[in-house]
Amino acid sequence: MGKVAVTTAVVGAAMACAVAALVVRHRMRSSGRCARAAALLKELEERCATPLGKLRQVADAMMVEMHAGLASEGGSKLKMLISYVDKLPTGDETGLFYALDLGGTNFRVLRVQLGGKEHRVVKKEPKEVSIPPHLMVGGSDELFDFIASALAEFVASEGEDFHIPVGRQRELGFTFSFPVRQTSIASGTLIKWTKGFNIEGTVGEDVVAELTRAIERQCLDMRVSALVNDTIGTLAGARYYDNDVIVGVILGTGTNAAYVERAHAIPKWHGLLPKSGEMVINMEWGNFRSSHLPTTDYDQTLDTESLNPGEQIFEKLISGMYLGEILRNVLLRLANEAALFGDSVPPKLETPFILRTPVMSAMHHDNSPDLKVVGTKLKELFGGMITFIPNTSLKTRKVVVQACDIIAKRGARLAAAGIVGILKKIGRDSAAKDGGDTPRTVVAIDGGLYEHYNIFSECLRSTVKEMLGEEASASVVIKLANDGSSIGAALLAASHSQYLDVGES
Ligand code: BGC
Repeated sequence: MGKVAVTTAVVGAAMACAVAALVVRHRMRSSGRCARAAALLKELEERCATPLGKLRQVADAMMVEMHAGLASEGGSKLKMLISYVDKLPTGDETGLFYALDLGGTNFRVLRVQLGGKEHRVVKKEPKEVSIPPHLMVGGSDELFDFIASALAEFVASEGEDFHIPVGRQRELGFTFSFPVRQTSIASGTLIKWTKGFNIEGTVGEDVVAELTRAIERQCLDMRVSALVNDTIGTLAGARYYDNDVIVGVILGTGTNAAYVERAHAIPKWHGLLPKSGEMVINMEWGNFRSSHLPTTDYDQTLDTESLNPGEQIFEKLISGMYLGEILRNVLLRLANEAALFGDSVPPKLETPFILRTPVMSAMHHDNSPDLKVVGTKLKELFGGMITFIPNTSLKTRKVVVQACDIIAKRGARLAAAGIVGILKKIGRDSAAKDGGDTPRTVVAIDGGLYEHYNIFSECLRSTVKEMLGEEASASVVIKLANDGSSIGAALLAASHSQYLDVGES
C-alpha cells in the first residue's frame, strides 16, 4: 500500500471514529435527556395523583369547611356567603329584563323577554364584549364606564320586538363574579378581586352603587334589581327549567359553587332567617385549601408569581385561568432540564400566561397519529422570527400530551371531589335506605372550561360516579347549563322587580 493510501485510510478511519463517537455521544445525550424527561413526568404524575382515598379526604375536608364557614364569619377559608336569594325562579316571571355578566376576560349583556310559565323565554338577545386587558388592572371608573357605555349602546340598538311598558324603568340583573358580601339582593361590597383583576379603590365598596353611577353617567334610565354571583345565576337559570337543580358550579376562567341550604343549617344567620326557609349560599370554593390537596413545586411557583399569592388555592389547581400556566411551568422545566425543545429554551416559554388553557385543550385532544396539532401549536406558541422552534419530535409531542393529561385530570378529579363534598353536606351523596325513593339531584355547571375541554368534563363526571358508587350516582345528574348565569340574573331581577307589587312585572 502506498504512503498516500495509508494516510487516506488512517484519516478515513479517524473520521469514522469521530463520527461514531459523536453519534454515540448524541445518543447518550438524547437518551439521558429522555430519561430526565421521563423522570420529571413520573414525579409530576406522582405528586398530582388523586386516588379515590385522597379524593374522599378532599370531599370530607370540603364538607368540614362548609360547616365552619356557615357557623361563623371568618370561620373558614370558605366564605359561605349569603346571597339573599331565598326564592328561585318558578317560571311565572314575565316582562323584559336585562343582564350584565362580568367576571372574566369578556362580559356579556343580554335582554330577555319572559312570557310566564307557558311561553318561558320568548326572545333573548345576548352580546359579548371583550375587556381590554389594561382595564382589568386600572381604575374603577374606567372599567365601569366602559361596561355602562356598552350597555347603553346595547339598549340603543333595541328592536321593536322587545317591549318595555310606558313609564317603566328598565331593570337589570348584575352577575358580578367575584367574592361579594351582600347587604341585600341588590347591594353588596367587594371582598377581593380574583382571576387577574385588580382595580384600585374598589375593595370594600358597593359594586351596585359603582355600576349605578356609571349607568347614570351614560344618562341611561336603568335600575339594578339583583346582584348575583355567576354560580347563583347558573343555579337560578337552570332551576327555571328543572326543579331538581340544587347546586350551581362554574368551571371557567375561575371556579366556584353555590347551593341551596336549609336556613336552620346557617348558624351565623340564626334569628335573621325564617327557620323553615332556604337560602342560596355562594361558597367561594376557589379559596378552599387543605393539606389533602395534591400540589407540586409548579403550583407553588404559580402561586408565588400570581397577583394574589396564598389565595384561591383550589382555583389555581382547577380553573381555566391557571391550567395552561401550570403546563407552561412544567414545559419550562422540561426544556431547561431535559432539553425538551432542543439545546436552547424557547424564550417565549418564559412568558407567564402565554400558554392558554384552550391551546392546552387543543393539544390534549389531538388524536392524529403524529400529534400534528401539538406540533403546530408548539410552533405557533414558542416559535418566532429569531428563535425558531424546530419541528418537534413525536417523543416530545407525546411528553407534552402526557403533561396535559396529568394536569387536566388532577383538576377535574378535584372539582368532582368538591361537588361530592357539597352533596355530602346536604345529604344527597347516598341512595335512600330501605328501598325508599332517592330524590333526584341536579348539579348545573357553566363555564368555558367545562363546556369545551371534553376530557376534563368527562373525567369530572366519571369521577363523581366513581366516588358515589353506581347506586347513589344514578339519581345525581350533572348537566351543562350553558349561559345560565346571565339568564339567571335576568330571572332574579324579574323576581325582585320593583313593579312586582303593582301587578305584572
Ligand atoms: C370568584 C367567584 C366566581 C368564580 C367563577 C372566582 O374567582 O371568586 O366569585 O364565582 O371565580 O367565575
